[in-house]
Order: sequence, then C-alpha cells, then structure tokens
Amino acid sequence: MGWYAEHVLPRAMDVVMRAGEYTVIRARVAAGLSGEVLEVGFGSGLNVAHYPPAVTRVFAVDPATVGRKLAAPRVAARSLPVEYIGLDGQSLPLPADSVDHALTTWTLCTIPDVQLALREINRVLRPDGTLHFIEHGRSPDANVARWQDRLTPIQRRVAGGCHVNRPIDKLIAGSGLDVTRLDTYYLSGPKPFGYSYEGVATKKPPARS
Ligand SMILES: C[S@@+](CC[C@H](N)C(=O)[O-])C[C@H]1O[C@@H](n2cnc3c(N)ncnc32)[C@H](O)[C@@H]1O
Repeated sequence: MGWYAEHVLPRAMDVVMRAGEYTVIRARVAAGLSGEVLEVGFGSGLNVAHYPPAVTRVFAVDPATVGRKLAAPRVAARSLPVEYIGLDGQSLPLPADSVDHALTTWTLCTIPDVQLALREINRVLRPDGTLHFIEHGRSPDANVARWQDRLTPIQRRVAGGCHVNRPIDKLIAGSGLDVTRLDTYYLSGPKPFGYSYEGVATKKPPARS
C-alpha cells in the first residue's frame, strides 16, 4: 500500500464520512444488530457510536491500519470490545457459522474481489444471521450508469480502488445471501457518486438432504 493510500486517504475519508447525512444513515443501518458482529471495512470506527447495546463484540477487518488510531477515542468512549482480526475482507480468519451479524458501510465499492468478500461474509454468518449494509453503486438510470462507467477508472485511482458502478444488490444476491430488505435512493451531491443501496441480507438455512 502506498503512502497516499496508507496515510492520506484514511484521514480524508474520516473527515468526509462524518457528515450529518452519513451519520443518520449509520444509525439506521446499525439498528437491530446484536451479539457478535463482524464489520468489514471498519475504517476509522465511525459506526462504533451507533452499535446498539445488544452488541457484545465487534470483529473489525480493514487494511488501513491508520484507521485504528483514528478509531481509538471512539472505541474508548464505548464499553464494547472491538477486536481487530484481519486486514482483508476477502479472507476472513473466522470459523464458518460463527458470527451473529455483519456490517458494511461504503466498503463493497472498494474491495477488489467483492464477490469473494461477500461469500466470506456468508460463510462466517450463523444460519439466519444478517448482513446490514449501506453501499453506493450502480444506478438504474441508464444515463447516470453511463457516467458511472466513465468515472470509475478515475475514482479507483483517487479513492483507493472505489468503483461507483457496482450493482450491489445483485452482488449480494450472487453470494448466496437473501436480500430481505432493500431501499435505494440518491444521496445529496452528484448522482454518479450517490446512488445508494441500504438494506439487510439474510443467510439462508442449510439445504436439507
Ligand atoms: C470509503 S471507506 C469506508 C470506511 C467505513 N466503512 C465508514 O463507513 O466510514 C472504505 C473502507 O474499505 C476499506 N477496505 C478496502 N479494501 C478492503 C478489503 N480488502 N477488506 C476490507 N476492507 C477494505 C478501506 O480501507 C476503507 O476503510
């Protein structure tokens, strides 16, 4: 990881992702989480304040270790154990069927093999466990989607690998999870960056033989 990606980007993200609009969404998306939660793309811990009291432990995964420093005061302000378990959502050091819930917020755009990361989330969730997510991605408006395809190569270079054109709902469904709740909308600001997928996906029960 280069100096820009390691030091500049996580700090810039920490400032940008603190905006009021994001904070309201974080609270909504974290509602209903309980027990042991895996957060892929933990970043600077901006979701920590929103975890409900029923959450007993957070397993954090993120390659940007500077995020841990930025997260430290947020973690210290809660009596909630946060365990850093890995650097890459594409390979989770957790047993199958071991966590109650998972959370991703504005992260699936950035993970190189997002399908692999989603399959990993599906693997480690307990049956009936859920993934809560808010992600930006491909717009159903053809004109906006065309711009997203044009802008993604530039965005990837300046924003740490971020793709603005991923069809998040299809990718989640492709991992074997059931998308059981989905709201889509545009955030304020330019449409190619703001088309959002907010929802819950549930791990299917094992098939009976
Ligand atoms: C836009 S930031 C969002 C951070 C945080 N989720 C939030 O809501 O503030 C994207 C995050 O994805 C992380 N990320 C990138 N590649 C990753 C990977 N392979 N596995 C897990 N996280 C990754 C980045 O380091 C960064 O913290």
